[in-house]
Amino acid sequence: MNLASSWRPKRFSDVRGNRAVVKLLINTMKQDPVDMPHTFLLSGPPGTGKTTLARIMASKLKCHDLNFREMNVADNKGIDFVRKVNREARIPPLVGAAVVYLFDEAHQFTGAAKDALLKLIEDTPPHAYFIFATTEPTKVIPTIRSRCMKLQTELLNDSDMTSVLEDVLEVVDPEGKIEIDERVLDKLIEVSNGTPRNLVNNLQKVLSVPNRKDQLELLKDCDSEAQVIDLCRAAFKGEDWQEIMVLYKQVKDNQGGGDIAETVRRSILGYCRSVLLSPNTNRRFAEKVVDVIDLFSSNTFDGGEAQLLAMLFNSGR
Ligand SMILES: Nc1ncnc2c1ncn2[C@@H]1O[C@H](COP(=O)(O)OP(=O)(O)OP(=O)(O)O)[C@@H](O)[C@H]1O
Ligand SMILES: [Mg+2]
Repeated sequence: MNLASSWRPKRFSDVRGNRAVVKLLINTMKQDPVDMPHTFLLSGPPGTGKTTLARIMASKLKCHDLNFREMNVADNKGIDFVRKVNREARIPPLVGAAVVYLFDEAHQFTGAAKDALLKLIEDTPPHAYFIFATTEPTKVIPTIRSRCMKLQTELLNDSDMTSVLEDVLEVVDPEGKIEIDERVLDKLIEVSNGTPRNLVNNLQKVLSVPNRKDQLELLKDCDSEAQVIDLCRAAFKGEDWQEIMVLYKQVKDNQGGGDIAETVRRSILGYCRSVLLSPNTNRRFAEKVVDVIDLFSSNTFDGGEAQLLAMLFNSGR
């Protein structure tokens, strides 16, 4: 069983953390359908509940599973795609009351597609709802942004992460047979960096090994921040490319979902920032890091992972 894909809260009350957005949504979904907004901008870090919330919204809007359409804009950026959606969205649902479109990575729509999209959301069919999900809300054009109800998910604090852990354990182990050491539980929360998806994935790994020692050992490899640091050090030093790729793949595995190239790029910039802020950084290394920041400063929307890899490669030269 893959926990991360099978565990998903089905009700607003099961979504942990994110109190403001959940409260807003509960109130919004109570509204009369005529007053209901039809376009939403759902932003927040990867793995914090955007798809989860969109699915719960869809069920509140009486959208049948068949009519919940999740699409990744990274794969469908162009105007033809938007035109197709425009045609399809006009057809009323045969089952249920609504058709819900979830556009993942909505910041990636191209120029012409954005214009077509604007027409669509200015004149939405009464049964159609559009949810734009993104980790980069500022990159969504203002004309679209201003027409959406804004919803933001956030990283969870430790106590909310603990609740997620308890919820998931209750599902995998309803009789409470599995015992996990306190220290392992603490470490699980720590290395998951406020991201429920990471927590669920890491829990699954922990459950695959029997004893505390092995579990703690395994969790060392799940610390995504530590991994980004290892990757940056190796890349900036221009180590052997194969070695850099091993570290890169670890980072990638632990990001789990979303726009991987962008998430990794931002993690690298985050590391650079912490190096510059650190009192222990000498001038030479700071100069190197400033060059690296320059290299990593443009987004990877067009070039994707290939562009990110080129940036990494160049950072070692
Ligand atoms: N706030 C939360 N409370 C409980 N579980 C959560 C929460 N957020 C995420 N999860 C769990 O984490 C996993 C990933 O969540 P989800 O798919 O909603 O993330 P996302 O924000 O859509 O990520 P991405 O940016 O990659 O699309 C799912 O298994 C989900 O059940
Ligand atoms: Mg998602």
